[in-house]
Amino acid sequence: MKKIAVLTSGGDAPGMNAAIRAVVRAGINSKIKVMGIERGFSGLINGEIKEMNLSSVGDIIHRGGTILKTARCEEFKTVDGRNKGHNVLKGFGIEGLVVIGGDGSFLGAQKLCHEGVPTIGIPGTIDNDMPYTDYTIGFDTAVNTVLDAINKIRDTCMSHEKVSIIEVMGRHCGDIALYAGLAGGAENILIPEEKSGLKKICEKLIKGKARGKLYHIIVLAEGIGNASELQKEVFDKTGIEARITTLGYTQRGGNPTASDRILASRMGAKAVELLLNKQSGRAIGVKGNQLIHLSIDEALSAKKKFNRELYALSQVLSI
Ligand code: F6P
Repeated sequence: MKKIAVLTSGGDAPGMNAAIRAVVRAGINSKIKVMGIERGFSGLINGEIKEMNLSSVGDIIHRGGTILKTARCEEFKTVDGRNKGHNVLKGFGIEGLVVIGGDGSFLGAQKLCHEGVPTIGIPGTIDNDMPYTDYTIGFDTAVNTVLDAINKIRDTCMSHEKVSIIEVMGRHCGDIALYAGLAGGAENILIPEEKSGLKKICEKLIKGKARGKLYHIIVLAEGIGNASELQKEVFDKTGIEARITTLGYTQRGGNPTASDRILASRMGAKAVELLLNKQSGRAIGVKGNQLIHLSIDEALSAKKKFNRELYALSQVLSI
């Protein structure tokens, strides 16, 4: 293999740049050319491709976002769209592809490798919703961003003796809420995996007030429901006015943590190694701090195991 390419796709995640850097530098170190495809699969269809060199990935390991830009591409889900992609890859002489993204991006990667393009998937999403791996690139940074927000909101809640609802991302997965809520000492963590009734929240609020608690923090995962509805229900049941903070895109940006940079660097280099060893259709993950790889088919059909132990601990500690 003489020439490979790398792209980022779907929602951006802090650490994607570190992964791109690792693919490019590991490739150059193995004497192959590495091309960068801009705007994910849409850039692949449109031939938005440039050769990367050592300095095109200089000064990016610490930056959030993705220098290759990213997009969600409907056209690539069609056979016609992918045929265009195949022709572009052929035209550029690209023999292998590294796709950095979430499960939607892995679906594109899966199709490509079934159609004969050696492809490797690297999990990059803040959501940590890819069941086959303990962690995805970007999750640790997003959790720390949320934690920082909880700390700040806690200060003001304490001063004003208020209740706060903090809405966090994660799509259908509650991991960001669970990890940040546990680390931030939230009174309630509401996640799709564990439907904790409103009654319980209100009981806890009233009990907390009765024992002189100054504030109450509820971390709400976007996948379980709407913050305004919860605010209204809490008010109707307790007469307490809760303030909503929606963290939104702040969770997708920012400098990646050391942990995300290291994970991304390891996975990027591993992807190049797999392609050079003629492996295709593999998804790279991490289990117990060891890098693993399995077929993208298996990765996509794995079922996410909810960390019940962490949730139970958060319940015990937030009485
Ligand atoms: O998958 C990452 C993510 O940030 C999710 O947590 C969120 O639900 C979604 O993307 C938001 O997508 P968009 O950027 O299209 O608003």
